[in-house]
Amino acid sequence: MTDPAFDADTLRERALTTLTTARARTTLLTSCVEEPDLTAQHSPLMSPLVWDLAHIGNQEEMWLLRAVGGREAMRPEIDGLYDAFEHPRAERPSLPLLPPAEARHYASEVRGRVLDILESTAFHGTRLTEAGFAFGMIAQHEQQHDETMLITHQLRKGPQALTAPDPDPVPLFTGPSEVLVPGGPFIMGTSTEPWALDNERPAHRREVPAFYMDTTPVTNAAFQAFIADGGYDTERWWTPEGWAHIRQHSIHAPLYWHRDGKQWLRRRFGVTEVVPPDEPVLHVCWYEADAYARWAGRRLPTEAEWEKAARHDPAGNRSTRYPWGDADPAPEHANLGQRHLRPAPAGSYPEGESPLGIRQLIGDVWEWTASDFLPYPGFQAFPYKEYSEVFFGPEHKVLRGGAFAVDPVACRGTFRNWDYPIRRQIFSGFRTARSAGDA
Ligand code: AVJ
Ligand code: FE
Repeated sequence: MTDPAFDADTLRERALTTLTTARARTTLLTSCVEEPDLTAQHSPLMSPLVWDLAHIGNQEEMWLLRAVGGREAMRPEIDGLYDAFEHPRAERPSLPLLPPAEARHYASEVRGRVLDILESTAFHGTRLTEAGFAFGMIAQHEQQHDETMLITHQLRKGPQALTAPDPDPVPLFTGPSEVLVPGGPFIMGTSTEPWALDNERPAHRREVPAFYMDTTPVTNAAFQAFIADGGYDTERWWTPEGWAHIRQHSIHAPLYWHRDGKQWLRRRFGVTEVVPPDEPVLHVCWYEADAYARWAGRRLPTEAEWEKAARHDPAGNRSTRYPWGDADPAPEHANLGQRHLRPAPAGSYPEGESPLGIRQLIGDVWEWTASDFLPYPGFQAFPYKEYSEVFFGPEHKVLRGGAFAVDPVACRGTFRNWDYPIRRQIFSGFRTARSAGDA
């Protein structure tokens, strides 16, 4: 291959950098609290942090040492403990997990051997090694668990353990609140992005009728207007399942919010603060996003609409990797990588906007879409069915765009995330859309 991006030294360097970046994050997230906070279960929704740590090492061992490197299992007796399908999260604390020091040691032993294998790997010949895919997959896997661990940190009660500078203040966004995305076909998904995961493949043509898309995610101020208008007490804004769910669980506001007299406060990584009006709303479930959109006379965008808004370049009549073009994400494009521990105000990152002027599609908050998580036409599970295939179906809704908690290696215009419509411990927000035919 002549493309310098696929030159073996470049791929080796990229694999090394992304694995090293991921490990630095993992180390920070598992060393900023004391041992009891690593072994405790902070929520039945989450694993103890020490499970994530050894699971990261175990997945790396399975794919990079055993599958790519052809090595023997280092500790076959622990595989079962760290198999996410063998033990649901709620029962993980009662397993004989490796204690923190052993988990750290195991993950770093695996890494040491991976670096040896990386030296001698040819980046072609097998699908797993082509363009360094397995290394990219494992770096993404570790970063996905770093996001999971950040969710656990947010759920954890107790004093602040993590700090990061706030995003820079920006002038109030004065652009239009929505733009028209013209109707017509576009190319959804990818067959060329080397580290794209199986569910993003293959590239295929989609017809998407004209629609209007919000230029920014929905803000806390806008969401507060929904609350103030009795949104949580008005059945007609909700699907029957959503209404039953919020009634049964007495949900009246986003997760982590509570009212103090006239104002809304929220707890964020151990600190209580006034809910910032200009920030994208965070920690809402799909049902809340869907109800808000109906109240606003709008709807959630479909997944295809979201991706067309993020990738279709009307001038070039092609799909780009990101809203701003094909360049890898840089700090001026998007709020990614846990460099801030909150979303940036709506209207931030003008350099990351799409050709039509839509902002913050990438980074800040995951955006709920109207769509179920389904395979694209021609989907093939690779390299294992348990990454995507077993989750396809109507019980999961798709989220797009990544959040401040997501590393650039695990974020693309084609990247698909999914969860149950009741989940709100994730870094989830949304934007709204409407069909162009509607008044
Ligand atoms: C893509 C975020 C839904 O955390 O369940 C981690 C990512 N898959 N280990 C998850 C994942 C296997 C996955 N999500
Ligand atoms: Fe995992």
